[in-house]
Amino acid sequence: MIDQLHEAINFKDKDKSLLPIGVFDSGLGGLTVVKQLLLHLPNEAIIYFGDTARLPYGTKSILTVRKFSLQIARFLQDQDVKIIVVACNTASSLALNVIKENIAVPVLGVIEPGVSAALRVSKSKSIGVIGTTATILSGAYEKALQKLDPTVNVNSVACPLFVPLVEEGWEQSDVAEMIARKYLDQIINTEIDTLILGCTHYPILKDVLHKVVNHRVIIIDSSIETAHQVCSILQSEKIQRPKKSKPTHKFYVSDRPQRFEEIAERFLGESLPNVKQISLDDYQ
Ligand code: DGL
Repeated sequence: MIDQLHEAINFKDKDKSLLPIGVFDSGLGGLTVVKQLLLHLPNEAIIYFGDTARLPYGTKSILTVRKFSLQIARFLQDQDVKIIVVACNTASSLALNVIKENIAVPVLGVIEPGVSAALRVSKSKSIGVIGTTATILSGAYEKALQKLDPTVNVNSVACPLFVPLVEEGWEQSDVAEMIARKYLDQIINTEIDTLILGCTHYPILKDVLHKVVNHRVIIIDSSIETAHQVCSILQSEKIQRPKKSKPTHKFYVSDRPQRFEEIAERFLGESLPNVKQISLDDYQ
């Protein structure tokens, strides 16, 4: 009987390891997280949802972002994912707790991984954070940093023009540098020695940001840190997918897929055919 029970548990665990990782974002920015997941967890299957019909989230209210995020998390839960990664910084800032309270699978946002990495490397304990207006207004990064280290000094700046700039493909342009200088002007002359990229799109602007901030400032890319944390969660739960067959990834969006497919390549480094449009109307 006990053996049977063990077998049942083992079978369940083995089964769970084969389930995909669910990832969502307001649009295609979350592909920066997918890119790191593919790099660090090449055996894992991924189900991605980009809410292209309702983006941007970065200018929306807390109630709206919570409602949309919960709907997506319910959809992913229905797809039988083993973990949900909230790749969107705005959704992580405004909706993470609500998702965790309502969803039965483990949920990881991008704030905590970025914050832990920043505190690990910062010597001056003066940390800069850039993100969307909603993320910065929420104070989520500040709260998370100060919860772990109450002595830390945080300088935050909202950079709303960065998202359209990246989506337009202008990340290497003079315009990008000018805009970055204007936004970061308020923090470059402070004591910050670490800068957290608190938005899915900002890793694409890393070159320009490196030019603008003091060369001693370490730039934290939350997408890399998030992939590391997913790795350790799967390891500690013993639910890594075994290296057998090649994993199949699925990409869903809420608006027509063409634009997503066109821009995806720049975020992911590879083309994305077969993106499917779906409706979340059944998930309220
Ligand atoms: N994905 C969002 C974030 O990381 C940026 C785009 C948006 O505003 O929806 O905050």
